[in-house]
Amino acid sequence: MSETQSMSETAPHVRIRAIGPEHLAQRVQVRGWLRNKPGGKGRYFLWLRDGSGEIQAIVEEAKVSPEQWQLVDEIGIESSIVVDGIVRAHPKNEDEYELEFQRIRVIQSVSDYPIGKKEHGTEFLMKNRHLWLRGKRQSAILRIRSEIHKAWADFFHDRGFFRVDTPIFTPNACEGTTTLFEVEYHGDTVYLSQSGQLYNEADIGALGQVYCFGPTFRAEKSKTRRHLLEFWMLEMEAAYYDMHDNIRFQEEMIAFTVGRILERCMPDLHDIWSAVRSDDKRSFEDWVARLRPSLATPYPRMRYGETIELINGERERYLQEYQEQFPKATIAFEDGSLRAMKKLTWDELREAWLACTIKEFQASGKAAAASDDDDDDSGAEKSAALPAARPFRWGEDYGAPDETLIGAQFDRPVFVSNFPIEIKGFYFKDELDDSGERVIDPVFAALPEGLKEEGMSGYTVMGSDLIGSEGAGEMIGGSQREDDTERLFEKVRHHQLPEDEFQWYLDCRRFGNVPHSGFGIGLERFTAWVCGGTDTPVHIREVITFPRMLHQYRP
Ligand code: 4AD
Ligand code: MG
Repeated sequence: MSETQSMSETAPHVRIRAIGPEHLAQRVQVRGWLRNKPGGKGRYFLWLRDGSGEIQAIVEEAKVSPEQWQLVDEIGIESSIVVDGIVRAHPKNEDEYELEFQRIRVIQSVSDYPIGKKEHGTEFLMKNRHLWLRGKRQSAILRIRSEIHKAWADFFHDRGFFRVDTPIFTPNACEGTTTLFEVEYHGDTVYLSQSGQLYNEADIGALGQVYCFGPTFRAEKSKTRRHLLEFWMLEMEAAYYDMHDNIRFQEEMIAFTVGRILERCMPDLHDIWSAVRSDDKRSFEDWVARLRPSLATPYPRMRYGETIELINGERERYLQEYQEQFPKATIAFEDGSLRAMKKLTWDELREAWLACTIKEFQASGKAAAASDDDDDDSGAEKSAALPAARPFRWGEDYGAPDETLIGAQFDRPVFVSNFPIEIKGFYFKDELDDSGERVIDPVFAALPEGLKEEGMSGYTVMGSDLIGSEGAGEMIGGSQREDDTERLFEKVRHHQLPEDEFQWYLDCRRFGNVPHSGFGIGLERFTAWVCGGTDTPVHIREVITFPRMLHQYRP
């Protein structure tokens, strides 16, 4: 007889999450682990977990045999156990159940589980990620991630999309050569995939509307709460979609997914919320309310140009506060091979930036770090004042604080679109006017020279990012693809891409070229946004079982 059969001899096995009113007064069997064991002196409350949820079994010494009591008395946290009990309604909480203990079988008794109730540091937890995963909050986040997988599959298949699986070994870059991982491929050099997009663009020739979903690799040097070196990206591509169709599709997908989470993951959200230790935390309902605005579309939209004034207004305000505390700024700059320090008043500093006369100046390492590296772990005091003294210019990419600021303007995610052509990849379509001419962005045309990076044309592309509220940062990057074959060839050359390697891609433009669009959404960024919030931040290392981050690839 197999182990499974013998275990179910006495009572039918149920998964804890599946226990419902139909089980009331029934004897069931729960197979799992011991989360905790409050009590003592004649009575224990066994907190059982089986990966789907938790349930409490109440054991009274007077009601069980001495052998059974001894087993219960001896087991420690994370012992593996099989418990039979009778399902009872929870005396206080509606829709919750508990077990009247009948019998225990100890599969393995554990007495020295290394993760205790005391607070552990991140380093310890990451080293023990294989065990940390079992934590209440950690496992709740993973269940939500799993539900998002299901929601996305349903969303795409219900809309006539086909799933394709794009290769992981790739001969060339899609998103730029600086973040490629090299792999030796029987004597050749290939790279781990940064994006399945180029293959998706070919796949729509066969299937019309596709998505792929797989591991994605970026050799990023950034250590932030939003960056992984290996993450999971869902990428969609659809023939005959323009940028606006693409944006509408994205917001519909986010609204659908949030709806699913609210419908199916309340117990998991509750587990995450209850793990937040704070005296003045919001009620669960108020906390969950942060997600509800995202059920309604359309989401707000801004052009890149419009965000410049927003960011600079905020920097100005911040700087004014800071100046009152510190009258002068210290700037480190490279003068030939010499590294020198100079004290400037804030006004001098700002004027110098505006006049572009201190391009050689490197704000001190600390200040530079403050703009990109927002990972709380370092514990270092971070000054945002130096980056704030420098105005944001047309042609810059957003830093983490800029994205946070943009996201903070709204109660749901916001689309930012029409970026400068110079900062986007070769495949983005030019923004054109009705006569098919390229457009100089009106904001760019009106900006003073000091607010433009060098060499900017003012031309823009038909791409959009979706930025999450509450500091989630960029969750989606998408665009209409360049379908003007001549322009695309030009861009491939301009970006100095290996033309030979791109012939197959260009073939798709030569034979049956169509307007098309697509996007990529990072599963971890999105899951962190769903599970987190300003006062309950979720780090990206918590939303994947075994995160791969800068200098972190174990266990
Ligand atoms: O904006 P990205 O680089 O876009 C692309 O790769 C396109 N080829 C997608 C497409 O159009 N098919 O990346 C898309 C998303 C980001 O918005 C972010 O959510 C996630 O992928 N992402 C990361 N997530 C975690 N760690 C990283 N290092 C990430 N880099 C990107
Ligand atoms: Mg992007």
